[in-house]
Amino acid sequence: MSSLRDLFIRHVGQTSEFSMKFEVSHADGMYIYDRNGKAHLDLNSGISVSSLGHRHPKVIAAIKRQLDKHMHTMVYGEHIQQPQIEFAQLLSKQLDPQLSNVYFVMTGSEAIEVAMKLARRQTGRYEIISCSGAYHGSTQGAEALRSDDDFTRAFLPGIPGIRHINFNELSDLSKITKRTAAVILEPVQAESGVRLPENGYLEGLRQKCTETNTLLIFDEIQTGFGRTGHLFAHKKYNVLPDVLLIAKSMGAGMPIGAVVTSRDILGAFLKNPTLGHITTFGGHPVSTAAAAAGLKVLLDDRIVEGVLEKEQLFHDLLKHKIIEEVRSSGLMMAVQLTKRKYLKHVVSKTFEQGALIDYFLFNDKSFRLAPPLIISKVEIKKACNILLQAMDYALDQYRR
Ligand SMILES: Cc1ncc(COP(=O)(O)O)c(C=O)c1O
Repeated sequence: MSSLRDLFIRHVGQTSEFSMKFEVSHADGMYIYDRNGKAHLDLNSGISVSSLGHRHPKVIAAIKRQLDKHMHTMVYGEHIQQPQIEFAQLLSKQLDPQLSNVYFVMTGSEAIEVAMKLARRQTGRYEIISCSGAYHGSTQGAEALRSDDDFTRAFLPGIPGIRHINFNELSDLSKITKRTAAVILEPVQAESGVRLPENGYLEGLRQKCTETNTLLIFDEIQTGFGRTGHLFAHKKYNVLPDVLLIAKSMGAGMPIGAVVTSRDILGAFLKNPTLGHITTFGGHPVSTAAAAAGLKVLLDDRIVEGVLEKEQLFHDLLKHKIIEEVRSSGLMMAVQLTKRKYLKHVVSKTFEQGALIDYFLFNDKSFRLAPPLIISKVEIKKACNILLQAMDYALDQYRR
């Protein structure tokens, strides 16, 4: 009889020959269990998704309640569905009044696509600027924002009108002009290995966008919902975007995303043409019920308040000869090693020892730490012990 692994390889579409092929049985709280019942401490959150841990009871209860009422009834926007209103209202209360309109989509990439269309439609301009080292998703428009030609070359022609600026380079802001519809950027770059905005950069960007009437769009798909130690990174860095993009942890484990902006800006989709964007499953009622419950837990349990202390504990404990630098914004962390060759040993040994860490897309010397925000101090100590042992092991591989 074929194993699940064989069947997976045979029938489930693959985009990498090096995927983990970790056989998941179930997941609960901080742990994901394999088919032999072995618990793995989750230090990835499925790439910044499971911030409340796995299967939070209040999220599960909300999903079950919604399942008993209705699932999909009509393409997005036609029917009035209570969970969408509940989430949008609760989110708006946490944000600046100009971010009061929530357009629901299904994924982060779709949020990016919608934002690009909206910016062009709303400003009547077509140039969109993104940053070097950015990752905004994998659909055609989102990929066009990538600055890495080695990757995008394989999928040419891309969409026209995209320019790149160097992240954190103030002098590059002069490329933003009255021809620019929007600048899209991650306030903290995730996939290039947690690159923090330098002092004055986001403020300078805000100023330039205001001067040129360019929309400033923050991709908070990874940084949102408490990951950086504040509910949103734009609050942490005190720079208000015109458009905020969210997804990933928004759904507390369910797929969902959104474009959040003013009624006025979103109004560009109403006319000429009407139905400026259409999404069948955007704001799916079960996903929005999960999102509303998840946001409520995050706020009621004051989960974000403990994040900075937990970040500090990781910094205090992660001391090792092969660590070059630990970069972080809250529990979005990159541990950079002194040599590239150590990385795969650290990742595989950590896995063997019962914890899950991951690589970044664009940084081959660092591993990612993005545990659920509910991680306890005891679990942080356990995680760091495993990581330090894995680093000893990696060092040993090259001693002989
Ligand atoms: C910052 C950022 N933006 C956008 C996306 C795309 O989101 P999705 O994979 O849900 O399409 C990602 C995914 O990793 C991301 O990290």
